[in-house]
Amino acid sequence: MSESLYGGTTSRRVTIRDLQQAKLAGDRWPMLTAYDYSTAQVFDAAGVPVLLVGDSAANVIYGYDTTVPVSVDELLPLVRGVARGSKRALVVADLPFGSYQSSPQQALETASRFLKEGGAHAVKLEGGARMAPQVELLAASGVPVMAHIGLTPQSVHALSGYRVQGRGDEAAGRLLEDAKALQEAGAFAVVLEVVPFDLAKKITHELHIPTIGIGAGVECDAQVLVWQDMAGLRVDGKPAKFVKQYADLTAVLTDAVHRFAGEVQAGTYPGAEHSYH
Ligand code: KIV
Repeated sequence: MSESLYGGTTSRRVTIRDLQQAKLAGDRWPMLTAYDYSTAQVFDAAGVPVLLVGDSAANVIYGYDTTVPVSVDELLPLVRGVARGSKRALVVADLPFGSYQSSPQQALETASRFLKEGGAHAVKLEGGARMAPQVELLAASGVPVMAHIGLTPQSVHALSGYRVQGRGDEAAGRLLEDAKALQEAGAFAVVLEVVPFDLAKKITHELHIPTIGIGAGVECDAQVLVWQDMAGLRVDGKPAKFVKQYADLTAVLTDAVHRFAGEVQAGTYPGAEHSYH
């Protein structure tokens, strides 16, 4: 795929090799979360090259306070819908908390379910150098792995909340070492979540695999957002500083609901053109 990853005309499935080539070519690309067939179809048709069935489904689909409680059985049906809804995008399934930390073997068993039963093409897991053995076994077993460091929401309690990671020389050095260890173990990309701009830039320049930023500044090779944040469909809570809202779907939907309800009350819907005679 020599054209841009986003907006290119090639219809075949995006591969991890395409992502490596994009890094070499300096071609930046977007990643979005998706959790169902219909939105996957929209994002895929729009040309988004990578769709992540994030464990953020815990928040935006299941209404949990954190990503900690969501299970493999809750995520698997979402992965199936996204895989069926996409023709071109690489579909990445998030491994939920507790489904991979115990051992590389546990990670492989969980990842196998997402690939075999869910139809995902790759998996993502959170954690730094301590996850290298998991990444190594997955990669050696033919499972592409996206790593995720910085603010790792599954560790929200250990991190004492959602705060910027990698501030100060020591923490920054550790994060850079984490990124290198994951690359060495065979990760094909690494998400950098809520880390300072300069550190994300340094990691991006030192790695040969793509970095995907979320709250990590514009120097990353790619950017990801939870789609409801990007499109303004979150009713509760204040969006994080890094979120840019490109639409106001809450307002669009609320307006549609009001108009539908108003016409039902007034007896003007369904009209003759929506009725069978
Ligand atoms: O679960 C998720 O949505 C994520 C991204 C925000 C990186 O991990």
